[in-house]
Amino acid sequence: MRPRIEEIRLIIASQPGDPYKGESQFNARCGSCHTLFHKGGKIGPDLTSYQRDDLGTLLISILDPNAEIREGFENHNITTHDGRTLSGFLADQDANVVVLRGFDGADISLRRSDIVTLNPAGGSLMPEFLLDGMNDAEIRNFFAYLRQSQPLSK
Ligand code: HEC
Repeated sequence: MRPRIEEIRLIIASQPGDPYKGESQFNARCGSCHTLFHKGGKIGPDLTSYQRDDLGTLLISILDPNAEIREGFENHNITTHDGRTLSGFLADQDANVVVLRGFDGADISLRRSDIVTLNPAGGSLMPEFLLDGMNDAEIRNFFAYLRQSQPLSK
């Protein structure tokens, strides 16, 4: 993992990227789960306010999602009395109800009395190897977009 982080850091440092070209990579690889500048999914944290200019933490978060898991987004496994096995993070909970948000972003409300087991799965819902298949130019464009402090003006 660490050599790959160094490799990507060098690719990014070698030349500037084109954020306009990187946007589609973001939408395809990250947008289903993450919001950036008010659009995108809600399975992972909103990245707009995340420190996207800090390349060190950004690269670790992307290449090694299990290194550190954002509080509140830990993956959990649940089994129910009616035989379902579910996983996702706990979007909400109180004394009676647990709301689980799965990979598709949909919330499932479960009564605690319907739950047999509820365990942390240990690990992030965010997949590894998200940057696989990108060439160097695509990596530079992708990070140029991801590190924009403002939405692109069109
Ligand atoms: C299947 C959904 C999914 C996809 C796809 C995904 N992520 Fe994530 N991401 C998550 C979840 C869930 C978390 C929170 C858990 C964690 O910290 O690992 C997260 C955490 C992060 C964090 C840390 C945020 C924080 O507040 O700590 C960053 C940065 C991030 N993702 C960037 C990306 C980028 C960039 C992509 C595209 C290359 C991407 N993610 C693709 C689900 C996803």
